[in-house]
Amino acid sequence: MTKYALTVAVNAAVDTSYIFDGFAVGEIHTVAELQRVAGGKANNVARVLKLLGAPVVATGFAGGGAGAFIRQDLERHGIAAEYEEIPGESRTCLAMVDRAGGTLTEVREKGPTVPPEAAEAFLGRFERLLDGARVVVISGSLPPGIGPEFYGMLVERARARGVFTVLDTSGAALKAALGAGPDLVKPNRDELSGFLGTSDVTDPLAAARSMMAAGARAVAVSLGKEGLVYIGPEGTWRVKPPAVDAVNTVGSGDSLVAGFTAGLLRGLAVPEALRLGVACGTANALTKGVASPRAEDIERILGQVVVE
Ligand SMILES: Nc1ncnc2c1ncn2[C@@H]1O[C@H](COP(=O)(O)OP(=O)(O)OP(=O)(O)O)[C@@H](O)[C@H]1O
Ligand SMILES: [Mg+2]
Repeated sequence: MTKYALTVAVNAAVDTSYIFDGFAVGEIHTVAELQRVAGGKANNVARVLKLLGAPVVATGFAGGGAGAFIRQDLERHGIAAEYEEIPGESRTCLAMVDRAGGTLTEVREKGPTVPPEAAEAFLGRFERLLDGARVVVISGSLPPGIGPEFYGMLVERARARGVFTVLDTSGAALKAALGAGPDLVKPNRDELSGFLGTSDVTDPLAAARSMMAAGARAVAVSLGKEGLVYIGPEGTWRVKPPAVDAVNTVGSGDSLVAGFTAGLLRGLAVPEALRLGVACGTANALTKGVASPRAEDIERILGQVVVE
């Protein structure tokens, strides 16, 4: 059987976007347009992987009616959902987009606390799912009840089975997981400066090296419209996308991770997988949706990405 990419969303959410033609605090509004998808960054990655034709299984914690929606929405996209049930309702994250005023207001629930029994059961499920996996993508924040050591535990288990691990998270969860030796870490500038404890990152490559000194095997720093810099055992590359008129870059990092992962599954060498990742990130910037690049944009941009 072909091996799949396994995406891990421990803090999955129902991502709801309310689009308004004018929005003011304290007023009653009728929603002009509504979008609702299985969210959490790892589920964004899963959808883009699917678009790229990669076999993908999505896991994490889900609870209640909201959890049922998360599973169904993934299945509707052709993604196998292998979630661990938790008590309570999975969280909803609300984005209120005022297309007249050009503002975005976000409201994020914390979500239910994951009980220790569910965390334990999840680890067993994760081990079983690793059997069919080629790459594991661990993206996003941790829910209440799960400590910062959790991602390191997942990385260790994956590495013990020779499954490639991609990690995209921030803060304490990121710091604590590096010692387990993730195969690729994908910070953006903010995540890097959080890691370094500095207000800005002047030298992304030097910052990536300090992440490797902390245990990462390779680091791809995403730099928005400037593309990315990669440092790993195979070499160092700068990857630059063409200049585009960006519409919405939210989820570009998730699209990048999906493109790189799909590249690995296709057996591409690292620079070519990075090229596909950057093309996906940039293609996502061209659409209104979150992590919703169009296949034809990816194809066109791929030929314009410079890898050096
Ligand atoms: N304005 C832009 N123009 C062209 N490409 C972009 C732009 N913004 C992002 N990209 C592409 O997307 C990739 C990832 O972007 P970015 O560094 O913004 O990720 P991120 O901050 O992790 O995003 P998110 O966490 O919202 O998914 C970049 O490497 C680049 O290829
Ligand atoms: Mg990101």
